Amino acid sequence: MSSNSHHIHLETPGDDAEIDHLHEIAFGPGRFARSAFRLREGVPHDPALSFVAKNGDTLIGSVRLTPILIGPEPALLLGPLAVLPPYKNKGAGKALVRRAVEEAGHLGHGLVVLVGDEPYYGPLGFRRVPHGSIAFPGPVDPDRILVCELVEGAAARAVGVARSERPIPVPS
Ligand SMILES: CC(C)(COP(=O)(O)OP(=O)(O)OC[C@H]1O[C@@H](n2cnc3c(N)ncnc32)[C@H](O)[C@@H]1OP(=O)(O)O)[C@@H](O)C(=O)NCCC(=O)NCCS
Repeated sequence: MSSNSHHIHLETPGDDAEIDHLHEIAFGPGRFARSAFRLREGVPHDPALSFVAKNGDTLIGSVRLTPILIGPEPALLLGPLAVLPPYKNKGAGKALVRRAVEEAGHLGHGLVVLVGDEPYYGPLGFRRVPHGSIAFPGPVDPDRILVCELVEGAAARAVGVARSERPIPVPS
């Protein structure tokens, strides 16, 4: 198989080790301090909305979506998105984002949010939000908070602090 070709599949539990390795290469140990990582901490990503790119049997890219809340509004946090260095700039990253967002729409979700570069994600349907409308539990450049609205009105309702959907433990 040529190094230019890839196929997008739903992530399976068997992909976990390769995805961890990919994240280590793409983001290094500093990834654990990122605001988006902290939001995902302890909250499982949605396996119905997390995809891998494969070149033959080799996992070359991954994107995960995780359910969160922004104020009262349910949303999906997109990330991490990563592609192995030798396979960059061959369309795998954009194909992963398109597939995940498309599937989120099919499943009836209203909003996808991420922290990333507008020049990359803008052509994929993401736009900046007004400064101050969405806050993260940690420092985030407000120009890098981007949303893709799948249901009209979802972005306008998503005002407040982004937080995980993790249930609050009940003291015993
Ligand atoms: C960002 C990343 C996922 C892109 O994946 P990819 O498969 O290489 O990207 P694609 O092939 O779909 O798109 C490549 C195009 O996007 C551009 N691009 C890549 N990163 C970009 C960025 N941060 N901002 C703007 N444009 C970017 C490339 O220059 C290229 O442009 P061209 O098509 O005009 O040549 C990959 O570079 C990566 O894993 N980076 C390290 C991890 C990371 O930063 N993840 C994103 C966190 S928000």
